[in-house]
Amino acid sequence: HKILVMNGPNLNLLGTRQPEVYGSETLTMVEERCVAYGKQVGMEVTCMQSNHEGVLLDAIHAAKGVYDAVILNAGAYTHTSIALMDAIYSVELPVVEVHLSNIHARESFRHTSYISKAALGQICGFGSQGYLMALDALRAHLNPATH
Ligand code: DQA
Repeated sequence: HKILVMNGPNLNLLGTRQPEVYGSETLTMVEERCVAYGKQVGMEVTCMQSNHEGVLLDAIHAAKGVYDAVILNAGAYTHTSIALMDAIYSVELPVVEVHLSNIHARESFRHTSYISKAALGQICGFGSQGYLMALDALRAHLNPATH
C-alpha cells in the first residue's frame, strides 16, 4: 500500500520548536523513520510538509487515486480548518490524524479537532512514535483479513 504522510504548519521546525513539547527529533528524522518502518512492513511511504493551508488542500485532492491512505498532522490548522475537514470528506481516503503532543491535555483551544470529524481516528500524545502507530493502524485497516 502507498501512504502519504502529511505535516502542516510549523512542523518543519521540529527539533528546535518547543522540544519539551514536541521532542528533539527533526522532521527529516521523523520522516526517515516513517519510510524505514513502512519498508519493514511492506508499505510505500511518501512524506510532505507545508505551512500553507491551500497547499495541504491540494495535496489531499491529489492523493485520491494515487495513495491508499493519508497520515495527517495538520498542526494548528487542526483546530481551525473546516476546509481541510471538507477535503478529507471529499476524497474518501482513510486518514489517520496524528499529533505529537496530547492535545486534550493542553489549552482548551486545542481540544477541538475538525480533522477528527472526517478521520478514521486520532493518535496523539506519543511523540513521533504516533506516526508509526498510525502506519500500523492503516496496515490493519487496509488488510482486514490478515488482522
Ligand atoms: C500539534 C498540536 C497542535 O495543537 C499544534 O498547533 C501543532 C502541533 C502536535 O503535533 O502536537 O502545531 O499538531
